[in-house]
Amino acid sequence: MKIAVLKELAAGERRVSATPETVKKFTGLGAEVAVETGAGASASISDDAYAAAGATLGPRAQVIAGADMLLGVQGPDPASLAGLKQGAWIVAGLNPFGERARVDGYAALGAEALAMEFMPRITRAQSMDILSSQSNLAGYKAVLDAAAEYGRAFPMMMTAAGTVSAARVFVMGVGVAGLQAIATARRLGAQVSATDVRAATKEQILSLGAKPIFVEQVKGIEGEGTGGYATEMSDEYKAAQAELVSSHIAKQDIVITTALIPGRAAPRLISDAQVASMRPGSVIVDLAVEQGGNVEGAVAGEIVEKHGVKIVGHRNVPSRLAADASALFARNLFNFLSAFWDKDAGRPVLPDDDEIAQAIRLTRGGQVVNARLLAQ
Ligand code: NAI
Repeated sequence: MKIAVLKELAAGERRVSATPETVKKFTGLGAEVAVETGAGASASISDDAYAAAGATLGPRAQVIAGADMLLGVQGPDPASLAGLKQGAWIVAGLNPFGERARVDGYAALGAEALAMEFMPRITRAQSMDILSSQSNLAGYKAVLDAAAEYGRAFPMMMTAAGTVSAARVFVMGVGVAGLQAIATARRLGAQVSATDVRAATKEQILSLGAKPIFVEQVKGIEGEGTGGYATEMSDEYKAAQAELVSSHIAKQDIVITTALIPGRAAPRLISDAQVASMRPGSVIVDLAVEQGGNVEGAVAGEIVEKHGVKIVGHRNVPSRLAADASALFARNLFNFLSAFWDKDAGRPVLPDDDEIAQAIRLTRGGQVVNARLLAQ
């Protein structure tokens, strides 16, 4: 059983899909691990550290040759996988909706592509969930990015020269990233408020010491929402939300937006007029910018200034914390593969009737087989 760890080739991607810790664990299970030379460099992991953990190192063609499984953070370009063994697994964040042509490419190669972001939100799969592990870090980093762009302090400070007032931070979208953003902003001493469409988040906001700001006159999504996910809201709800945001946002210094709806463009939560109502020097961080953006005027990969307000739209925020993001991502992959490890076969085996297998398997036997993709 040979596992190949590929160097990420996508622009700006600094993470890596295995660490010396997970290499050691895989070899402990009896696998052979081959790491592409330089794969960990941008996440501060040297080739020597992988070698010390029991991996062999080599150029791409050499690590792919004979591999039963390829690990990646993002899906590799099928054109870069010459010589891949028939039936080999490709295990990574494959962005199946956004990179459909690649998925077809994996099918054409005869590979079995497994999309880690399609992991179902069930208790058993929590430790395998790359969306959670990476969003958590993104929520933290979003607050630090905001603080770095903000020309004022976060905590209240009483000094001999006078008092500096606490920054007011508003978090929109209280999933994994939003919760971590609230916690981080609180740790920095900000006065924090937050909103979501799912009713269950109200308690979570309060438990972190922040103030919930919710649409009251129109019903949102009850409880957690199916699988913890939001859906598109009614026009009536959207109008009420826009009114609520308009009255609240003008008093905020920092806004962090994280709202996503699976399989759809991100909901638009802040209009240009609302940006204009904020004080000059305020900062908005749009974590949904790559999914279409929550904020009008946000540009992926850029920090733009509108009406004296900075709108931060960094791409791939987890990659900005590459070492920790890689460590967590690598553990997610190990937790998944080890949970299905079959000692007799000396490799992981995915039963056809398993909920996880059905959710994440995209291709098999030359065909696209995933229900969500086929329904598109
Ligand atoms: P997400 O990334 O899909 O969305 C972020 C947040 O934006 C969500 O809270 C969503 O309700 C909110 N949102 C969507 N539209 C909005 C709008 N128009 N206005 C305001 N907010 C809006 O969500 P994420 O972070 O992936 O997780 C959501 C929930 O799922 C959490 O409660 C989390 O605990 C749960 N979860 C459970 C897992 C498991 O059991 N394995 C794994 C991951 C998450």
